[in-house]
Amino acid sequence: MPKRRLFVTTALPYANGKFHIGHIMEYIQADIWVRFQRMQGNLVHFVCADDAHGAPIMIAAEKAGITPQQFVANISSGRKPYLDGFHIGFDNWHSTDGPENHALAKEIYLQLQEAGLIEVREIEQFYDPEKGMFLPDRFIKGECPSCGAKDQYGDSCESCGAVYSPTEVKNPYSALSGSTPILKKSDHYFFKLSDPRCVSFLSEWTQGLNADGKTRLQPEVLNKIKEWFVTDESGKSGLGDWDISRDAPYFGIEIPNAPGKYFYVWLDAPIGYLASLKNYLDQDSTQKNVPGAVGFDSFLSDPGVEQYHFIGKDITYFHTLFWPAMLHFSGRKTPSSIFVHGFITVSGEKMSKSRGTGIDPLKYLSLGMNPEWLRYYLAAKLSARVEDVDFNPQDFMLRVNSDLVGKYINIASRAANFIHKQFNAQLGQVGPNGEQLLIQLQSAASSISRLYEEREFAKALRDIMALADLVNEFVDQNKPWELAKKEGATSELHAVCSTCLEAFRYLSIFLKPVLPALCTQVETFLKCSPLVFADASTRLGPGHIINDYKHLIQRVDEKVLDKLFEMPEVSDTKPAQTSNPSSSSSSTKTQPPKAASAFSVDAPGGEVIAPTIGIDDFAKIDLRIAHIVSCEPVEGSTKLLRLMLDVGEGRTRQVFSGIASVYKPEDLVGKLTVMVANLAPRKMKFGVSEGMVLAASHADEKSTPGIYILQPWPGAKPGMRIH
Ligand code: MSP
Ligand code: ZN
Repeated sequence: MPKRRLFVTTALPYANGKFHIGHIMEYIQADIWVRFQRMQGNLVHFVCADDAHGAPIMIAAEKAGITPQQFVANISSGRKPYLDGFHIGFDNWHSTDGPENHALAKEIYLQLQEAGLIEVREIEQFYDPEKGMFLPDRFIKGECPSCGAKDQYGDSCESCGAVYSPTEVKNPYSALSGSTPILKKSDHYFFKLSDPRCVSFLSEWTQGLNADGKTRLQPEVLNKIKEWFVTDESGKSGLGDWDISRDAPYFGIEIPNAPGKYFYVWLDAPIGYLASLKNYLDQDSTQKNVPGAVGFDSFLSDPGVEQYHFIGKDITYFHTLFWPAMLHFSGRKTPSSIFVHGFITVSGEKMSKSRGTGIDPLKYLSLGMNPEWLRYYLAAKLSARVEDVDFNPQDFMLRVNSDLVGKYINIASRAANFIHKQFNAQLGQVGPNGEQLLIQLQSAASSISRLYEEREFAKALRDIMALADLVNEFVDQNKPWELAKKEGATSELHAVCSTCLEAFRYLSIFLKPVLPALCTQVETFLKCSPLVFADASTRLGPGHIINDYKHLIQRVDEKVLDKLFEMPEVSDTKPAQTSNPSSSSSSTKTQPPKAASAFSVDAPGGEVIAPTIGIDDFAKIDLRIAHIVSCEPVEGSTKLLRLMLDVGEGRTRQVFSGIASVYKPEDLVGKLTVMVANLAPRKMKFGVSEGMVLAASHADEKSTPGIYILQPWPGAKPGMRIH
């Protein structure tokens, strides 16, 4: 039986966008902790899911002309390369739209109702008169009622963390139409958080201690919660009742016995943690593979099972108040702790979700940058505090190169050659100095474990690198390269190099939660079984034979790092030329046609016909009928329009086209046109362009202005290929 049994999650990302570096940071933090727990011999179920519901996803799907289910499935299908790429070892990835979540959310709601904590009240809510629908919180914007920050969403403030109801927002406007919303009445369902039972439970729970006698929540989180509990002058408790229903149309879970009403996404989102676990534990194969595993119900309700949620600071309120109250009053076990982290900034700048700034995780991987550099760098900056973490490119390079390559890997590369060349790859006895060093390393295991357990990764790595320094000093003092040349120093050389490799193995144990792939290579090199923390009390020992040393990790290359931050500028000219430098029209740029030749037969349209190609060349270009789903101007560009095109793939593509001077977005929406569907995506200043719209123009724009996009004859359907 495993020592401890843990249920660990990270926040469920909204399924309306790809992962950004903030998500990856959260997953890396949680993954390191989970790997550490597993290396302690503990059983961990580590799960996540897409947060599928809510109005924003419904609206995005509608815009894309697909169902919300399809929309979520498209996003979900793109998750794997990120998770595998950064070695994030979730056991399961599910969706809050899965059947388990529908069932659990309804069950929990009915239990809360049974407990007398649900109340129906008629409320006045913002309604967009132009759009004809109640406005979701996220589509009401205005000033935060608490701190006055501008352009905040209708449900919470990104600046001060306050959570409020949309009607409290000052100077509201609809983000859908820009109009000023009007108030309209509707029945809403409330979770009575202000009920004295909830208030007293939550004040106790939040202050509570863990099984190991530590406070359940971080001190900064506790301080924040105290602010939320404050009773105002009128005696009103800071904990307001929570509106958990939304009116149709809504993409979510229907509330039992309440036609036309759906659960607000934040009610079913955390239940998605349980749903993903259930989905995982209900799979037959899971039961077979996990020693000591039991079914979902018994695992979750077992008081011995610990439950932890890794989250970012912006969603603390939902996790430290709503979530424990929902669990407790539906008769369930509450989380052991909520682990809150700060935000990642890049070179001191806050990344913007909407602008997609920061570091693109997939670009990082596609440049061939080692994912473990990022894991190491972030770990070296992460603590148990709710602090922001800055990614600074220069610091990143120095840190990785000096610590990982200079201090750690160097130890193996220095010793392995001698062991191979002079001692048939076999380790020998360790001398008295070496013995002392190894004991020091061995005995650090418990304090390093404690630091990992407490999520003090930065301190753990600092201690591990201090140990690596000691090993390097040992090498410098004993100078194996001199011993190798010295008469009669063979056994001393053998002892020194054996000490180094034993020490290297200890360091690898300590670093393995952070560097899982590298340490797997180390295990092959050292010919040892998968390293766990208990191995810190053993040695490879004299006579142990190692494998060939192959270089284990590269240094960060500054040129590649520069590429990560490169943002190719859009040439911002004519439509058909932005993406294809070898197109015939761009070659005319170097040789502008003479005005006179503009009408000559040799140069129709101002340019000579391009050299002849075979049908095979033409077949390489995949032209498709595209439906223009939406079209909008591009902020910061007078020439470009952003088109969302549907070529029947079950998703839409974003394509930029330099036609803003001749077409208005409303002229184009809903029309069919022709696009190059297999042109390599190109990152532009304003986003990625995933293709190119065909358009006709004269080579000499000045004498013959005008750009004309193509429209097929009636009957053509999106996705049809043009042959
Ligand atoms: N869907 C909700 C969570 C529901 S949990 C039941 C959500 N999704 S999110 O995609 O916006 O954020 C997912 C996680 O990423 C959150 O923990 C959030 O705090 C975290 N981060 C978002 N931006 C971040 C940074 N810039 N840095 C670090 N983490 C950040 O919220
Ligand atoms: Zn605020």
